[in-house]
Amino acid sequence: MKLTYRGGIIGTGSFLPERILTNQDLEKMVDTSDEWITIRTGIKERRIADKDTATSDLATKAAQNALVNAGMEASEIDTIIVATITPDMNFPSTACIVQSNIKAYNAVAFDIGAACTGFIYAIVTANQFISTGLYKNVLVIGAETLSKFVDWKDRNTCVLFGDGAGAVVMSRAKEGYGVLSQYLGADGTSGNALAIDAGGSRNPASIETIRRNMHYIRMDGNEVFKFAVRVMASAAEEAVRIAGLEKSEVDYLVPHQANIRIIEAARKRMGLPEERVYVNLSKYGNMSAASIPVALDEAVSSSEIKTGDNVILVGFGAGLTWGSCLVRWES
Ligand code: ACO
Repeated sequence: MKLTYRGGIIGTGSFLPERILTNQDLEKMVDTSDEWITIRTGIKERRIADKDTATSDLATKAAQNALVNAGMEASEIDTIIVATITPDMNFPSTACIVQSNIKAYNAVAFDIGAACTGFIYAIVTANQFISTGLYKNVLVIGAETLSKFVDWKDRNTCVLFGDGAGAVVMSRAKEGYGVLSQYLGADGTSGNALAIDAGGSRNPASIETIRRNMHYIRMDGNEVFKFAVRVMASAAEEAVRIAGLEKSEVDYLVPHQANIRIIEAARKRMGLPEERVYVNLSKYGNMSAASIPVALDEAVSSSEIKTGDNVILVGFGAGLTWGSCLVRWES
């Protein structure tokens, strides 16, 4: 099929819950220390949604902020894609709940689950709709309330994650701007490294699954770490290669925010100085699908990303999955 248009990002937005949980707070909950968490991950604090707040609540506020920044009414949106692994419920999709909340009644709506790579998968999907001309204005949201799926007694995982949401509005880009390249990957054979085992059709929720803590995130941190260091850098390089550019032409890197050591490895391989890589994980921890859009919104709002910049978005996550895209920024 001939692709007629290229998608571009015309507005960004984010929303974080107010409550902050610091490393010092965690020291009182599990056998850990601020020093261990800071050195091993780079995380100092994370945001935690309150009991009554679901993923769609965060997603709705991030979406509304993105719409304002894009200068677009909700009625003009024709597609809503929510990337999340912490949906409000199995169905309806979180995207349908957001559609109702923001009154985007002309939009089709669905969720994408690719864990921390979810936002990249969603951007690429949105770009296909825009490229073919099927849809024009797509709201892409990454939103998570991981705090509700974390075992707060497991120091291996509870120190890593946080809650939040980020969103972008995508539409037809001007000539020469927008998504110049896109690259996705998956390796289901290694999927056991990172999972929530119960609550699906394999292990429906039961008293037994709850007794065995199977409704919480389970992770082989070391396996995921090795995989992440390998794929994050290579996915970023792929985005450059597919766009037909040189690494020296990359202006900005917005990576998934899981661990400062993983980000540093990718930064060094890309040959980028520290000030060209957006890092906010000390404030928020790993927000899975929300990490990249929140970081992007902060980088755009603080004018660190400017018109004409070649920006790489890159992530990895459960699945295992990975992906990247290179966007020539237009504002
Ligand atoms: N505080 C203190 N000690 C701890 C903690 C903690 N919070 N957590 C683990 N430890 C201990 C371990 O028990 C281990 O002790 P031992 O040597 O006595 O057995 C020791 O610290 C070292 O553990 P390692 O696993 O070797 O530590 P590592 O340097 O690999 O760091 C980490 C662990 C931070 C989890 C790292 O492996 C990592 O970042 N992995 C990637 C995780 C990730 O990126 N996930 C993203 C995907 S999430 C998604 O898609 C939903």
